[in-house]
Amino acid sequence: MLVVNKGEKVKVRIRVNGVWYEKYVSPRMLLVDFLRDELNLTGTKVGCDTTTCGACTVLLNGKSVKSCTVLAVQADGGEVTTIEGLSVDSKLHPIQKAFEDNFALQCGFCTPGMIVQSYALLKENPNPTEEEIRDGIHGNICRCTGYQNIVKAIQDASRRM
Ligand code: FES
Ligand code: FES
Repeated sequence: MLVVNKGEKVKVRIRVNGVWYEKYVSPRMLLVDFLRDELNLTGTKVGCDTTTCGACTVLLNGKSVKSCTVLAVQADGGEVTTIEGLSVDSKLHPIQKAFEDNFALQCGFCTPGMIVQSYALLKENPNPTEEEIRDGIHGNICRCTGYQNIVKAIQDASRRM
């Protein structure tokens, strides 16, 4: 078990979007704060801060996690992918393009987490049914409308990938 004195910082090494970063952080620092405040990767959003909304979803070692629920020290030595890591050479990822083309973006606040979760879902199940899509994104809350265009976008993305 890691024992740290009050106020002491600990070194973490985390590979984010293909780049290794080494930083000294408070052992209480959340992964989402590490990404946003230490690395300036502000695509990942904080909605609820209580593991409910999914806005903060990122991939940790290939699995989607709510980064407001993971400490930065828990990701030490690991690999994180954020929304910024999905596009290649500034070209939108097919899922991002499908969200754009299907008008699945409204406030846009929930969108990064929704897209990262869709990526994880489609990696695991490249041809999900509508029911599987709805189940796969049930941890990501969109407060503006129903999920119809989001589901359509994920179906469209599954055909593009
Ligand atoms: S901010 Fe992490 S689940 Fe809402
Ligand atoms: S589009 Fe973000 S909450 Fe609906």
